[in-house]
Amino acid sequence: MTHASNAISHVDLTYMDTSGKQHEIRAEVGTTLMLVAKGNLVHGIDGDCGGNAACGTCLTRVDESTLAGLPPPGENELELIDGLGVSIASHRLACQIKVTPQLNGCIFHVGQPA
Ligand code: FES
Repeated sequence: MTHASNAISHVDLTYMDTSGKQHEIRAEVGTTLMLVAKGNLVHGIDGDCGGNAACGTCLTRVDESTLAGLPPPGENELELIDGLGVSIASHRLACQIKVTPQLNGCIFHVGQPA
Protein backbone atom coordinates (compact mmCIF):
# COMPACT_ATOMS: atom_id res chain seq x y z
CA MET A 1 0.00 0.00 0.00
CA THR A 2 1.29 3.44 -0.87
CA HIS A 3 0.70 6.60 1.08
CA ALA A 4 -0.20 9.73 -0.81
CA SER A 5 1.52 12.78 0.57
CA ASN A 6 -0.73 15.62 1.61
CA ALA A 7 2.19 17.91 2.25
CA ILE A 8 1.84 21.33 0.70
CA SER A 9 4.86 22.05 -1.47
CA HIS A 10 4.05 25.52 -2.78
CA VAL A 11 2.17 28.60 -1.62
CA ASP A 12 0.99 31.77 -3.29
CA LEU A 13 2.66 34.95 -2.04
CA THR A 14 2.31 38.58 -3.02
CA TYR A 15 5.22 41.01 -2.94
CA MET A 16 4.73 44.75 -3.33
CA ASP A 17 8.02 46.16 -4.59
CA THR A 18 9.56 49.58 -4.06
CA SER A 19 8.15 50.86 -7.34
CA GLY A 20 4.63 49.90 -6.29
CA LYS A 21 4.50 46.89 -8.60
CA GLN A 22 2.68 43.81 -7.33
CA HIS A 23 4.29 40.39 -7.86
CA GLU A 24 2.13 37.28 -7.49
CA ILE A 25 4.56 34.43 -6.91
CA ARG A 26 4.16 30.70 -6.39
CA ALA A 27 6.86 29.92 -3.85
CA GLU A 28 8.36 26.64 -2.74
CA VAL A 29 7.85 25.76 0.91
CA GLY A 30 11.14 25.60 2.82
CA THR A 31 13.00 28.37 1.04
CA THR A 32 13.11 31.95 2.38
CA LEU A 33 11.17 35.04 1.43
CA MET A 34 14.45 36.67 0.38
CA LEU A 35 15.43 33.89 -2.02
CA VAL A 36 11.95 33.82 -3.53
CA ALA A 37 12.07 37.58 -4.12
CA LYS A 38 15.53 37.49 -5.67
CA GLY A 39 14.65 34.54 -7.86
CA ASN A 40 11.68 36.45 -9.18
CA LEU A 41 13.46 39.80 -9.62
CA VAL A 42 11.39 41.66 -7.05
CA HIS A 43 12.85 45.18 -6.97
CA GLY A 44 13.87 46.22 -3.45
CA ILE A 45 15.28 42.94 -2.18
CA ASP A 46 19.02 42.66 -2.73
CA GLY A 47 20.08 40.12 -0.11
CA ASP A 48 23.67 41.37 -0.11
CA CYS A 49 24.81 39.27 2.86
CA GLY A 50 23.38 36.06 1.46
CA GLY A 51 20.79 35.63 4.17
CA ASN A 52 22.87 36.10 7.31
CA ALA A 53 20.82 38.87 8.93
CA ALA A 54 23.77 41.20 8.47
CA CYS A 55 22.97 43.71 5.70
CA GLY A 56 19.33 44.76 5.93
CA THR A 57 18.86 44.77 2.15
CA CYS A 58 16.00 42.31 2.45
CA LEU A 59 13.87 44.45 4.75
CA THR A 60 10.18 43.71 4.42
CA ARG A 61 7.12 45.28 5.99
CA VAL A 62 4.68 42.64 7.15
CA ASP A 63 0.99 43.07 7.95
CA GLU A 64 0.02 42.60 11.57
CA SER A 65 -2.01 39.45 10.94
CA THR A 66 0.87 37.82 9.07
CA LEU A 67 3.41 38.93 11.63
CA ALA A 68 1.47 37.25 14.41
CA GLY A 69 1.89 33.86 12.74
CA LEU A 70 5.64 34.11 12.22
CA PRO A 71 8.30 32.77 14.56
CA PRO A 72 9.77 35.64 16.59
CA PRO A 73 12.85 37.43 15.22
CA GLY A 74 16.28 36.58 16.57
CA GLU A 75 18.50 39.08 18.36
CA ASN A 76 20.60 39.87 15.26
CA GLU A 77 17.49 40.51 13.24
CA LEU A 78 15.98 42.78 15.89
CA GLU A 79 19.18 44.80 16.23
CA LEU A 80 19.54 45.22 12.49
CA ILE A 81 15.95 46.32 11.97
CA ASP A 82 16.19 48.73 14.89
CA GLY A 83 19.39 50.16 13.41
CA LEU A 84 17.62 50.84 10.11
CA GLY A 85 15.27 53.19 11.93
CA VAL A 86 12.05 51.36 11.13
CA SER A 87 9.55 49.81 13.47
CA ILE A 88 10.46 46.38 14.76
CA ALA A 89 6.74 45.86 15.29
CA SER A 90 6.01 45.78 11.56
CA HIS A 91 9.22 44.83 9.78
CA ARG A 92 11.21 41.65 9.31
CA LEU A 93 14.21 40.50 7.33
CA ALA A 94 12.98 38.40 4.42
CA CYS A 95 16.05 36.18 4.70
CA GLN A 96 15.00 35.10 8.19
CA ILE A 97 11.48 34.05 7.21
CA LYS A 98 10.99 30.55 5.90
CA VAL A 99 8.18 29.93 3.46
CA THR A 100 5.63 27.74 5.21
CA PRO A 101 2.13 26.61 4.25
CA GLN A 102 0.79 29.16 6.75
CA LEU A 103 2.09 31.99 4.56
CA ASN A 104 -0.22 31.12 1.68
CA GLY A 105 -1.95 34.31 0.51
CA CYS A 106 0.23 36.67 2.53
CA ILE A 107 1.43 40.05 1.28
CA PHE A 108 4.93 41.46 1.83
CA HIS A 109 5.93 45.08 1.22
CA VAL A 110 9.61 45.01 0.43
CA GLY A 111 12.26 47.66 0.84
CA GLN A 112 12.71 50.57 3.15
CA PRO A 113 10.05 53.23 3.44
CA ALA A 114 10.87 56.41 1.54
S1 FES B 1 19.98 39.16 3.13
FE1 FES B 1 21.21 40.39 4.42
S2 FES B 1 19.93 40.76 6.11
FE2 FES B 1 18.73 39.51 4.84
